[in-house]
Parts: sequence; C-alpha cells; structure tokens
Amino acid sequence: MEFERMLELHGQQHLLKYIHSETEKRELAAQLAAVDWEMLARFRNTEGEARGEISPVFGLRRAEIERRRKEYEAIGAEAVRAGKVAAVLLAGGQGTRLGSDAPKGTYDIGLTHSVTIFARLMENLADTVRRCGAYVPLFIMTSEKNDAATRAFFEKHDHFGYPASFVRFFVQEMAPCVDLEGRLLLEAPGRLALSPNGNGGWYSSLKRAHADGDFPGIEWYNVFGVDNVLQRIADPVFVGATIASGCRSGAKVVCKARPDEKVGVLCLENGRPSVIEYYELTEEMANLRDANGGLAYGCGVILNYLFNARMLEEIASARIPVHVVRKKIPHLAEDGTPVRPQTENGYKFETLILDMVKLAGSCLPFEVEREREFAPIKNLTGIDSVESARELLKRNGVKL
Ligand code: UTP
Repeated sequence: MEFERMLELHGQQHLLKYIHSETEKRELAAQLAAVDWEMLARFRNTEGEARGEISPVFGLRRAEIERRRKEYEAIGAEAVRAGKVAAVLLAGGQGTRLGSDAPKGTYDIGLTHSVTIFARLMENLADTVRRCGAYVPLFIMTSEKNDAATRAFFEKHDHFGYPASFVRFFVQEMAPCVDLEGRLLLEAPGRLALSPNGNGGWYSSLKRAHADGDFPGIEWYNVFGVDNVLQRIADPVFVGATIASGCRSGAKVVCKARPDEKVGVLCLENGRPSVIEYYELTEEMANLRDANGGLAYGCGVILNYLFNARMLEEIASARIPVHVVRKKIPHLAEDGTPVRPQTENGYKFETLILDMVKLAGSCLPFEVEREREFAPIKNLTGIDSVESARELLKRNGVKL
C-alpha cells in the first residue's frame, strides 16, 4: 500500500512531519509494515476487558506434596530423562527498577565474590540435572535491546558449566510506543520508538525462531522469570505432580505473606483457573479468610509455570489480551530534538504470561515454601530487593 495512504488509514499522518529524506521514508515504511495495527486499534476501542466472576481456588498444599514427594519426583525425573521437559528463562525485560542498562541477569549480588543472577539460576538448574541425571534444554528469551549482551555474558562464562548444545537463545518481538493520543512515537529519525512486547509472547517468539528444532520430544515447558534467585528450575516434583494431576498447566504458588502483598493471585474466573493482578483484588477479597483461617485469595504466583506443549499449540492462534502501560518514553519532538520526559507521556503495550493460564483451561496450583523458593529481585533496597534476596540466599546456605 502507498505509504501516505497507510498512514492515513491508521491515523498516523503526523509521521510525515518527521520525514526528511527518501531513506528515512523507506526505513520507516519497513518498520510500519511490522506494526500490529489491530492491537493499536483494540487499545483505542476498549477500556480493558471486564473480568468474569472470581472465586478462590485451593491448590495442592505442601503437606500433601510432602506425602507424595517420592512418587511425584519419580514421574518428573523420568520425564526429564526422556527429554520431555524444557526450561524457558524470560530475560527480555528491561529491569528498569534496578537502574542499570545491562541485562538484569548480569547483576552481581555477591559480597565477597561475584554471584550474578544468571550464575545463581544456572546453579539451580544444575541441581535438577544432578537429581535427574540428565540435561534439560534451556531456552533463553532476550529482547533486541539486550540480546547481544546476554549471549556475550553466557559465552564469557562458558555457559556456567552447562553444555552449550543444551542452550538456545531467541529474541522476543518489539511493540511500538504511542503518545497519550495513540500516535506512534519516533526514537530517532526514521526509527520508531519500540519496547519489548511483554513476556506473554514467549511461545510464538520461540517457535518463530525455531529455537526448539533440535529437541523434538518436548512435552512440558517450565517458564520462569529472571528475578527469583531461589527458584527451582524444571523441578521434577512440580513436573511429576502436574503430570499426575492431568492439568494442562501448573503454577508454583506461595501463601501470600499479607493481604496486600503485591503478587498476582491464582483463582477461578467463571470456574476456570485464572491469575488476577494484586490491584484487581478488592479490599474485601484480599482480606477474606477460608475455613482454616488462611487467606482465601492466598495463592500468590511467583512466575514459575509449567505449560503442556500440545496445549500451547492449540492456543497459539488465540488472542492473548494486550495490557496498556503508561510510561515515560524518550522520543523526538516535531522539530527533531530529542525529548526525555519527566512525566508519563505515552503508552507501551505488553502481553503477560499470566494470561496464558486462563487460556490453558486447567492449572495445578503447587504450593512451595517461600523462604526456600522465593527471593525476587525487583528493587535495590526494601521489599523484593537485592538486600532481601541476599538475606534469603544466606539463610539457604548460599555463600555471597
Ligand atoms: P517484570 O515485569 O519484572 O519487568 O518482568 P522487568 O522489565 O524485568 O523489570 P522492570 O519492571 O523494568 O524493573 C518479569 C519477567 O518477565 C521478563 C523479565 O525479564 C522478567 O523475567 N520479561 C518482561 C520479558 O522477558 N519480556 C518483557 O517484555 C517483559
């Protein structure tokens, strides 16, 4: 389609003012061809999708897991040995809260020697390898912004002792940023302002990159975030329990520490498993108690999920909801000068992995002990910080 006509069709004629040469026009046209216009249109036309009827869910509790640990571990370890379990590290985020431009996983939390987040995660994965007696394929999702630096870091550290033949990197897609009126922003002449499209697109990005091509037998993907330095990866007990449950997905959960703790909560929405964000819980729901005196909406998700591969294929074409986030977005002004806004000036678009639980249709909530498996690093100090994670690591016998 003719360039001007396309801009008009999508209400983006303002971009014409930024074009000063044929080269810039060509570059921009190429990027605009990749824009998900339907997503932008949905952002304009919806106020966010309404939630269905929410009710609490009761998961597989620790006492029951302990009782059946051996049985679950045997099922999970067998699946690992058969090459049916892969791990997916979501490392495409920008980690802005840590205040560093480097990939978040390269952040060093050591005190007397170097202990990077990536090193810790690889140590946790090695633990599974020791327990099961087999390597687990590891897929690492990066973004255009941090891909080269992440790969270089793994190379430099010899993949932390893991065989490189079991590690694959893939890059997630980018989404365009818009101003508060929905107009696309530029970050440089001829270049759209883009941001990683959220962690919900991991499966389509992995497939597009054919990252799993060498591992045809995968039946389960254990997907986890970069921040939790205590998490178990491809944990055979979790894998075994999920397989035994017959569910198409599983979610590691912790009992929420307080009614207002800022974690997503696994619950039922119109009778189907779903994760709702902490800010979607009313105060009454957040404080509601169950028959045992625990929090009724107490299953806090920790971004460690298991997804069945066949189910992922089935839902691949389903539309995952788009979340719109207000942010400060550096961009070019109309006269071509760069602007670094002090207040939020536009929107980024993200899809979230937690929405995949709802699409999966069934999910096993699998309770873990937070002191042993949950040490997220979001901030430098305070709650969920470098400081709190160091404390938890020390309590688990990790030397820093
Ligand atoms: P967060 O929501 O904590 O975002 O990501 P973030 O970008 O890492 O950190 P802040 O908010 O800028 O400080 C949760 C997990 O999802 C991954 C992150 O790398 C992290 O493991 N993620 C997030 C992606 O892989 N891609 C994205 O686009 C966003």
